Amino acid sequence: MKPKVKISQMKKRDLEEVLRIQTDNNLSSWKYNDYVKELERDSSICKVAKLENNQVVGFAVVRILVGNDENNSAEIYNIAVDKSFQSIGIGQSLFDEVLRELRSKKVAEVWLEVRKSNSQAIKFYKKNRFSKQFVRKNYYQNPTEDAYIFKLSVD
Ligand SMILES: CC(C)(COP(=O)(O)OP(=O)(O)OC[C@H]1O[C@@H](n2cnc3c(N)ncnc32)[C@H](O)[C@@H]1OP(=O)(O)O)[C@@H](O)C(=O)NCCC(=O)NCCS
Repeated sequence: MKPKVKISQMKKRDLEEVLRIQTDNNLSSWKYNDYVKELERDSSICKVAKLENNQVVGFAVVRILVGNDENNSAEIYNIAVDKSFQSIGIGQSLFDEVLRELRSKKVAEVWLEVRKSNSQAIKFYKKNRFSKQFVRKNYYQNPTEDAYIFKLSVD
């Protein structure tokens, strides 16, 4: 059963848990200071999902790339849920909140890259109406793997 989660702005005090979730999921190796810089950017959306006891169980980092007013795009840098809390709707709650904010900021397109073998994330993105645009050969290291580039047109 899905526990009660609250989606809120990521704060510096959340970063230790964010880094743990990142590492447990073998995601890109952003360091503490990378997150601090991202939190300071006006164009970033950094969210955490917390349980009632304030434990961080997921996070999302998205950056808006400013174009002309009517045509901003955004890139999802990271979205992850604590392994013990995956597949019970928390990633969806995080993404719904991010999308609400992107719509309010008139973002027209959302882009991301994902490992070809990451079928769980690919299913997640497809469910959220992202579609594959192209492949970047051998984009990832350790292990070397192709990246799929996905795009969502925000309606
Ligand atoms: C991808 C991720 C963020 C999704 O969050 P989540 O909380 O596990 O997902 P949710 O429970 O909200 O499920 C939403 C949808 O994702 C997909 N999904 C979630 N878990 C899945 C699983 N184990 N297998 C296949 N699809 C799955 C399904 O489409 C699901 O919709 P459904 O329940 O109607 O079938 C999470 O699984 C995760 O942290 N994965 C590891 C980190 C990662 O790979 N991040 C993406 C980097 S590009």
